[in-house]
Amino acid sequence: MSSSWEEARRENRIARNAGGGPLWHFLRGFIKHPVMVGAALPSSKATIDKVLAKVDWSKCKLFVEYGPGVGTFTEHVLNRMAPDATLIAIDTNPDFIRYLRRKFADSRLFPVTGSAADVRQIVADCGFDHADYVLSGLPFSTLPNNVGPEIAAETHEVLRPGGCFLVYQYTAKARDFMVPHFERIDRALEWLNIPPCQIFWGWKD
Ligand SMILES: C[S@@+](CC[C@H](N)C(=O)[O-])C[C@H]1O[C@@H](n2cnc3c(N)ncnc32)[C@H](O)[C@@H]1O
Repeated sequence: MSSSWEEARRENRIARNAGGGPLWHFLRGFIKHPVMVGAALPSSKATIDKVLAKVDWSKCKLFVEYGPGVGTFTEHVLNRMAPDATLIAIDTNPDFIRYLRRKFADSRLFPVTGSAADVRQIVADCGFDHADYVLSGLPFSTLPNNVGPEIAAETHEVLRPGGCFLVYQYTAKARDFMVPHFERIDRALEWLNIPPCQIFWGWKD
């Protein structure tokens, strides 16, 4: 059986499932790629509000999101962002990127299939020199070897001075990767999340 035929069948299946809700699409992503998704449930509204509370939206022209999944955070970032700001959402899972393109008819949003490790190239390809804020929902504790440290280093490089790396995860593993690059790391715990969520803000001073 030809691979293009297989691909066409896969695309048809995805199109048929396009009507499913975000939870359905998230679970489907988790079942297909449990290690890369790293969570069976999307983040809670309490987590979203706490993570985004430290963003100065008046100083945000470019916001980058890693691992948007089905857009749990994306929607709230778009609601808070200025009309002339840009959001680049990067996910390795093409099903999630297709889903985001269907879900959000917002010209400020650029969903990109790719790895957060390539953030500098992706930001440059979109015509920017740096990002003001980078948000991560990546499962740092289950990412392949060296990917976490590389993402932390690349994120520090892509941020402007005064910019911030916002990280939420179920474990504190991400902090280990942030420490070599970010001098100031604020920390919080959000209990109203399943499971409770660790939050870190790494500031580029
Ligand atoms: C725990 S889910 C986050 C879902 C969502 N942001 C939320 O708040 O519910 C992790 C996401 O990271 C994506 N991912 C894993 N490795 C990645 C990488 N290297 N670069 C970009 N995205 C990645 C997965 O495909 C998945 O969508």
